[in-house]
Amino acid sequence: AKVTYVDHTGTAVEVDIAVGENVMRGALYNGIEGITGECGGGLSCATCHCYVDDAWTDAAGGPSSEAEAELLESTAAEVKPSSRLSCQLVVTEALDGMVVHMPEHQL
Ligand code: FES
Repeated sequence: AKVTYVDHTGTAVEVDIAVGENVMRGALYNGIEGITGECGGGLSCATCHCYVDDAWTDAAGGPSSEAEAELLESTAAEVKPSSRLSCQLVVTEALDGMVVHMPEHQL
């Protein structure tokens, strides 16, 4: 499925990510700067913070889960209603075309 990553300057890069893979690893595999993913997807670092584009909120499963929200309190950038931890966002066919925005920094 195609996912577009937009950095804080507005530069967008579209990549193809296998269904079942998460949006954090999709960024790492494709050399997208802006997502760090220090803990490797273990829901313990909050350096995979992203903002799901408003058009994709529902498809992406709505706002962050409670566990994500708790961890997002420790993230470096501003937390918004659209904030998600990208390692918890699993790519499905329904997310083909999804756009995520990345904060200026993760640490
Ligand atoms: Fe660490 Fe997502 S990669 S919380």
